[in-house]
Amino acid sequence: MFSPSTANQDYWDRDAATYHASHPEYLSSFYWCPEMLHEADARLLGSTAELAQSTVLELGCGSAPCTAWLQDQAGFATGFDISRGMLHHARPGMPLVQADSLALPYRTDSFDVVFSAFGALPFVADLDAALAEVHRVLRPGGRFVFSVPHPMRWVFPDDPESLTAELSYFDRAYLEQDSEGNLTYAEFHRTMGDWIRALQVRGAFEIRNLVEPEWPEDLSITWGQWSPQRGALFPGTAIFVCTAAR
Ligand SMILES: C[S@@+](CC[C@H](N)C(=O)[O-])C[C@H]1O[C@@H](n2cnc3c(N)ncnc32)[C@H](O)[C@@H]1O
Repeated sequence: MFSPSTANQDYWDRDAATYHASHPEYLSSFYWCPEMLHEADARLLGSTAELAQSTVLELGCGSAPCTAWLQDQAGFATGFDISRGMLHHARPGMPLVQADSLALPYRTDSFDVVFSAFGALPFVADLDAALAEVHRVLRPGGRFVFSVPHPMRWVFPDDPESLTAELSYFDRAYLEQDSEGNLTYAEFHRTMGDWIRALQVRGAFEIRNLVEPEWPEDLSITWGQWSPQRGALFPGTAIFVCTAAR
């Protein structure tokens, strides 16, 4: 009962206020991950000159701090999220829409760049369907960049101090249900091999880079699974940089 999309829409609607109260620094600009890698330093979406000419779409934008930063940088930047509660926290006046990443309300070949910072992709059960939609709206040769929890993180509990593996790397889903058996939260784990295979289904995307940001020495903020202690030992984020095959 309840699809992952319905469960997560409801979850993020309920969690939006807490999420924003908990992560003010991260949500103040375009950071790719809790390691606080900023797009101005990483330039994963292209050079300043390329970006200025690009139409850009953000998947699962939440309150869209990334798209907000892009308003002065890109030719055109828009975003969507399934949660009205998350969108409600966005800066007023931005071109954002409520949509599910499994059915994008955009024309084929509309964007030069599609990206996401931890949005939508970890929460969809049918990754192939979500990637097919990205491929459809991205022009041939366009850029697709997204950050997700690094697959290494899955095995450890959502506690920044613990270094004891609890889940199998080979379990693929974390599902929560209410007392009536309704799905209330759904998150899906992909191994590194799963990501590589999914991106290459039907030859859709070519992987150009895989960024695994290191924990900065001067960063002391912890966030669930991300902490200096964990970060010193293994990566918390994987950022895939791809192009759409022509
Ligand atoms: C961890 S938040 C990331 C939001 C934003 N990118 C950020 O960095 O704050 C995950 C977001 O994915 C959205 N999401 C989950 N499933 C989705 C789906 N099927 N389609 C679109 N957005 C979805 C949630 O509503 C939530 O805003």
